[in-house]
Amino acid sequence: MIDARPIIVTGASRGVGYALVRQLLAQGTSVVGVARERPDLAEGPNFQFVSCDLSVPDDVAALVARLIPLHPSGLINNAALQTEADLTRLAPADLARLVRSEVAVDLVAPLMLAYGLFDTIARRPGGFICNINSALAFAPKLSAGAYCPAKAGLANATIALRALARRQTDCLVSQVVLPLVDTDMTVGRGSGKISAQKAASAILDGLRRRRAEIWVGQVRMLRLLQRLAPGATSRMLLGVPAQTSSV
Ligand SMILES: NC(=O)c1ccc[n+]([C@@H]2O[C@H](COP(=O)([O-])OP(=O)(O)OC[C@H]3O[C@@H](n4cnc5c(N)ncnc54)[C@H](OP(=O)(O)O)[C@@H]3O)[C@@H](O)[C@H]2O)c1
Repeated sequence: MIDARPIIVTGASRGVGYALVRQLLAQGTSVVGVARERPDLAEGPNFQFVSCDLSVPDDVAALVARLIPLHPSGLINNAALQTEADLTRLAPADLARLVRSEVAVDLVAPLMLAYGLFDTIARRPGGFICNINSALAFAPKLSAGAYCPAKAGLANATIALRALARRQTDCLVSQVVLPLVDTDMTVGRGSGKISAQKAASAILDGLRRRRAEIWVGQVRMLRLLQRLAPGATSRMLLGVPAQTSSV
């Protein structure tokens, strides 16, 4: 039986989520980890693993129902899926599969968890909802045509959740924007990656300070650039010249 008021961490089996779980457990916080694969962590009063395929909304609904009685004090929506592909080259059935599963894991499941657990988390002092995001939410790249808009939707939802939280409670709704992290998601691409451990400690440090926006490492520059020269970051990541628009 897990201790009262655990923190829920999705994507707990590897990468940033696994590092988050380990660091939370090391500081004596109880955690419920969610993923499909079980991480190599012993279960006990401080840690419980719940297997769930977050690409299946009915399974996520059952997960939310199972988590509510645990009275979680926080939620870290960390699990995500990114497939690099030229979407214009996929057969219709493959395109449907890719878009459906990526939007389900990266947007639908975080929304269901955030809204489904909102009341139970927000009721508690110190409660928080944390959405792990990417600079690609604000400046998409062509090779991740489903991941980027799903993450943009998550950024939009974070704004709405924040407004909801402010109206009712002191619940923190936090958005983390990570730079490239050395995990399975980025195997074979990019350079200058930070470790999953470093990403996790930056996230937990930001949450400890009750920060609403936690931009980690190099992406802080992108945030500044976006303010100074809107559109420039998109052009850099898309690799296309500026387009004029009459809209
Ligand atoms: N890596 C980067 O450079 C980077 C940069 C910016 C933002 N981010 C964000 O950081 C977060 C963590 O990414 P990461 O790099 O740690 O990813 P990762 O190493 O690929 O791990 C992804 C995690 O999500 C879980 N997951 C994926 N599909 C799932 C499904 N259908 N059902 C349940 N769980 C599922 C995986 O668990 P199972 O496979 O066991 O289910 C795994 O634990 C994500 O939100 C990502 O968008 C990452």
